[in-house]
Amino acid sequence: MSTPPAELRERLRRHHQDHVLYGWDQLDHTQRAQLVEQLAAIDLAELENLYRQVLTTKNTLPDSLEPVPLTAPTFTAEEKARGEDALRQGQVAVLLVAGGQATRLKTSEPKGMFPVGAVSGATLYQIHAEKVLALSRRYRRPLLFLIMTSPATDAPTRAYFEENNYFGLARTQVRFFQQGTMPAVGADTGQLLLAAPGKLLLSPNGHGGAFTALADSGLLSELMDRGVEHLFYFQVDNPLVKVCDPGFLGRHIATAAEASSKVVIKTDPAEKVGVLVASRGRCAIIEYSLLPPELAAAREAGGELRFRAGSPAIHVFRMTYLQRVTEMAADSLPYRPAFKEVEHFDPQRGDVVKPAGQANAVKFERFIFDALPHAERWLVVPTARAEEFAPIKNAHGPDSPETARAAMIALHTQWLAQAGIDTRGHPVEISPLLALDAEELAEKIHAQTVLLQEKVLHGPHVLR
Ligand code: UTP
Repeated sequence: MSTPPAELRERLRRHHQDHVLYGWDQLDHTQRAQLVEQLAAIDLAELENLYRQVLTTKNTLPDSLEPVPLTAPTFTAEEKARGEDALRQGQVAVLLVAGGQATRLKTSEPKGMFPVGAVSGATLYQIHAEKVLALSRRYRRPLLFLIMTSPATDAPTRAYFEENNYFGLARTQVRFFQQGTMPAVGADTGQLLLAAPGKLLLSPNGHGGAFTALADSGLLSELMDRGVEHLFYFQVDNPLVKVCDPGFLGRHIATAAEASSKVVIKTDPAEKVGVLVASRGRCAIIEYSLLPPELAAAREAGGELRFRAGSPAIHVFRMTYLQRVTEMAADSLPYRPAFKEVEHFDPQRGDVVKPAGQANAVKFERFIFDALPHAERWLVVPTARAEEFAPIKNAHGPDSPETARAAMIALHTQWLAQAGIDTRGHPVEISPLLALDAEELAEKIHAQTVLLQEKVLHGPHVLR
């Protein structure tokens, strides 16, 4: 290909994007083919439209906003049994989204490879995988573990699982699939950004890309063919998540909910979590940056925040609902703009631009929670923050590795205390393979105590 295809040149010219052909003559054959392929996958008119919306849209809040009704914070024995039954019968699969670029944490590796175990140094991936393994053992059924990656995280994530023998999971139990990408554009210009001459700057299309990626990869229909009815969804950055909490699954199943969400109760209006709200009988999440300060700070007569249902991004989705959402029009999960600082190649200057503390680019992302209003039946369960939510977002300060490690130590210390063991302030960590919750730990410790007691009473013994 000596010159760019005429049709492409014309399309670029029409949308004022010809600058992406900068340096064409210096590109080799493969680079040229790759650039043409990248451009073929982009709907320039849609991009132009999205950028125009960024400039004009002021308020995307639903017109009616009510606090979301919360169901009971504890689960009944029946609910738990129902969830356990679904796990035993292979009706549940797990979806971990791990395609993010972890810009705030500033690591070069995928966030899942970040060591978070306070004592063991176990990574987020290891902790999550061991929870899936422990559940598979407990319910004697290999739980399918789907991991969504992006071009930024795919190869290192696969290699990491391979090197670590899938943390004891069967190779066939772990299924990777890649989410789509979207081009980033200049914040002031709407023009496509280049990573280098001949190479567009693309970024993962948001965790909301999970639905279409599941469908496009064939996994959605494969899971349904295998009898999977519910998908437990969580994000890579939360080491405390109770993966496939049986009571949560049971309530979701028993109420025929299509989308169920856990929430943590917000006490600080400025806390950076999305808030679940009800709007005309449907459930929605308002991003923290979009909730007007007066609504974020509004209080009930009792003093608690009116909009206090903070989202830790823990959901269960019914597969039939996922299928319905993926079959809807593309804009049923809209692209939302995110202003970011992005290093890129500037063809006008012929050099790389490093942003200096100011957002210079717009990325477009889909959010998983934009699917919630499509659920006809839904439910919301409050969960204790200390038991289930310690996200790692920043390198230091709030929501950082330090706060997550401290939360893990505090929780595991509490579990041990419930089982009658005093750690006297020493840091402890409980592997998911020993226990997934306080009850399991207490049972195991009790069983060991009874065993040791019997041994001691029945003659001389060396205790090993
Ligand atoms: P965040 O929105 O917190 O993004 O993702 P991030 O990549 O972890 O961090 P920043 O914003 O760049 O600092 C929440 C969850 O959604 C996943 C992330 O991997 C994380 O589990 N995610 C995010 C995706 O899977 N794909 C995306 O395109 C974006």
